[in-house]
Formats: sequence, structure tokens, C-alpha cells
Amino acid sequence: MSHSDQTSPLAARKSAALRGTARVPGDKSISHRALILGALAVGETRITGLLEGEDVLNTGKAMRALGARVERTGDCAWSVHGVGVAGFAQPDAPLDFGNSGTGCRLAMGAVAGSPITATFDGDASLRSRPMRRIVDPLEQMGAKVVSSAEGGRLPLALAGARDPLPITYRTPVPSAQIKSAVLLAGLSAPGVTTVIEAEASRDHTELMLQHFGATLVTEPEGKLGRKISLTGQPELRGAPVVVPADPSSAAFPMVAGLVVPGSDIVLTDVMTNPLRTGLITTLREMGGAIEQSETRGDTGEPMAQFRIRGSQLRGVEVPAERAPSMIDEYLVLAVAAAFAEGTTIMRGLHELRVKESDRLEATAAMLRVNGVEVEIAGDDLIVVGKGHVPGGGLVATHMDHRIAMSALVMGLAADKPVTVDDTAFIATSFPDFVPMMRRLGGELG
Ligand code: S3P
Repeated sequence: MSHSDQTSPLAARKSAALRGTARVPGDKSISHRALILGALAVGETRITGLLEGEDVLNTGKAMRALGARVERTGDCAWSVHGVGVAGFAQPDAPLDFGNSGTGCRLAMGAVAGSPITATFDGDASLRSRPMRRIVDPLEQMGAKVVSSAEGGRLPLALAGARDPLPITYRTPVPSAQIKSAVLLAGLSAPGVTTVIEAEASRDHTELMLQHFGATLVTEPEGKLGRKISLTGQPELRGAPVVVPADPSSAAFPMVAGLVVPGSDIVLTDVMTNPLRTGLITTLREMGGAIEQSETRGDTGEPMAQFRIRGSQLRGVEVPAERAPSMIDEYLVLAVAAAFAEGTTIMRGLHELRVKESDRLEATAAMLRVNGVEVEIAGDDLIVVGKGHVPGGGLVATHMDHRIAMSALVMGLAADKPVTVDDTAFIATSFPDFVPMMRRLGGELG
């Protein structure tokens, strides 16, 4: 919306070895959840290290419109005074989530458990994304879609349930957004709401719900899955949240440090929740020199410092089961794969088609236009690494922050500069990306 009339292209060129220490911004998933759970809790939630990117700021505005007091108290420090479970007030205007699927879908779950009607909207990218996967279970719990665009898309008006029902729901795809929406709606329901996922997705909602005083039990389900049972109508109490650095943002300087020869960089405070570290596992299998130290766990979420050194990577096969733990990292993994020697096969990527853009097609296009051999075979992405990337291409970002950042990382080591058509969307998740990469020695301009 605010972006549609203004684009800002940028080029990245072959850089000398990257050096230095950086802390990427706070984790986006945890930042959204801290604001939403803070809004549903009684009392004050003090958040430090919040990601002040557009996506999260939009969630903060939405929580304010729903009746919570949300204030910035310092640099990345925020205070939320919540309204209590099921206590949201009727907003007077549509809630605009901009580019953010997470903010929108989690807020839908929270609204579904309050007796109000709210209209959800977003930018052209979010308006094109599927919402039925969220509202289907919410309707089973008693919420009702009052109106929507074709195919159940945004703008969508949702009437929350007066008397929400607890349900047992099997997610059709491993998605933390679907799971979280059901659990947040389940907060208002009497009895136990259960979500079963065939493959475990990120569990930040579960961990934070427990941190705020909810009773929640997680059990294994099959080989890779989980069954999560939440006891409804808890007294959620505001609690301090320290947001660690986002591993999905750290992924960009991490891959840059590996592919720019001679680099030696350190990334601090990176969250290492095992349901988010698939990229690190994969890059190590590819031969990436990534050392981990100082693991701390004082925030309810583990974190560590990483030292990354320039490495000659090799192609690997990435199993489909790993996808939930690195779902947002395939774009930048594809960049690493392009610089590797040998072929990388990434399996089971169907969910990439419904992200901020069709990331399967967009990744292939990004590589192809820069002279890399790439193929989409069903749900698999195959990248033929030749040890170097010709570059010289203009990459279409499709309103997708991660395409922009991945392409710029590629340009830092490609033979010829790589240009992106629009960097504006980087501000949704990593506003400091360009200056930070420049501080590490990246030539962007
Ligand atoms: C997120 C879950 C993922 C991920 C998104 C953040 C979350 O989406 O792609 O960037 O914070 O719950 P899905 O749950 O739909 O896979």
C-alpha cells in the first residue's frame, strides 16, 4: 500500500572479505507474538529487543486498535497493557497488516475468541495469500467470516465467537501460523483445544503461552509431529519478553560470510530454537565454516554467537522433513547453492508458493537471470552450483523482502553486480540490512 507508488532499486557488487561483528534485529515471529500475547494478557508486558520492522509495527497498531495500550518506551523497548483473554474492543477501522501473513493470521486467531467483528486487510501481496487455511478451523470454533474477497482472501471481516468451542484440529500443512491461530482462539474456549501437526513447526507460541501462565502440554505425534493441548480460559499475566536476534535475518549475513572469499564475521545473540535452525544444519553439511559458542537460554528461547568464515561450499540434498525448520531460508540457501561446487536438491517446497510471493518461481527466476542453472521439478528446487555466479542480472522482488536481501547477498560475491528492482520491502523485517551489510564491508549502492 504505502509502497506501491515508490520503488528503490539497488545493486550489490563483488566485495572484499567481510569483517566485523553484527547483531541482526529481533526475531519477527517472537516480536509479533509478544505484542499479541501482551494484548491478551492482564497487566504489563515489557518487551526488549522488539523488531521495529513494518510488519511488527503493524501488529502493534492492530493491538492498539483492539483496545490494548501499546507504547514505545525506548530503542526496541515496548510496553503493552493488555485487555485480558476475550477482552478485545471492536475496532473502528479495518486492521491493516501491510505485508505480514504472521501478524494477520495470528491476530485472526486472537479476534476469533472475542465477541467483536474486525476487518483484516493488507497490501497486494497479503491480499493474494490464502486465508481459508486459517478461517476454516476458526469457523469450527464458532467464528464467522462476514465478508471476504474471492477465494476467502483479504479484505476479510471476521466475527469472533461469543461462546468459542474447543476443538481438536489436525493442520493440513505444517504451519506455525495455522497452529498459533487455533491456539490463540482456544484461549477463550472452555476446555482443551488440541492442535496436531504431522511435522513440528516453530513452537514460539507454545513457549510464550507457558511463559504468560497458560497450561499447555506438548506430546510427540508420530515420527516428526506434535500434539499440543491448551487448557482454555487461563488468566494470562503480562510477563517480560527479551527478543533474541532473528535467525531468519541472520541467514543473510551468514550466507554472505560463507560466499565472499576470506570473510570472517561474528553474529551475536542469534536464536537457536531447534525448530528454526535447518539452514545452519544445511550450510554445515555443505562445508560451511560456522562455529557456535556462548549458548544462553535466559529468555525461554536459546541463543548463541556464530563465527562464520568464507568457505568453498559443496552441493547437498536437503530432505523435505527439514522444510518447516528453514521455511523462510530457501531463497538464501539457493544463493549459497549457486556458489557451491555441485548440485543442491531442495525437496518438498510446496509451501514456498504461498509466501510473500511464489518463492519457488521467484528463486528460480533470481538465479536464472544471474546465469545460474536451476530447475523446478514438482515441489523440488534443483540448483547446479559451479563455484561461481556470473551475476549481471536485474532481480524482480515481487514485494518480497527475502528475495531482495537474497539477491543482494548474491551480488556481493558474483562476477558482475546484481541489481534488485526494489529494496522498499526490506523494511518489513530487517530495516537495518543495507547499512549493516555495508558496515561488514559489503559493496551496496
Ligand atoms: C511464521 C511461520 C511461517 C513463516 C513465517 C513466520 C510464524 O509461516 O513462513 O515467516 O511466525 O509463525 P507458516 O506457518 O505459514 O509456514
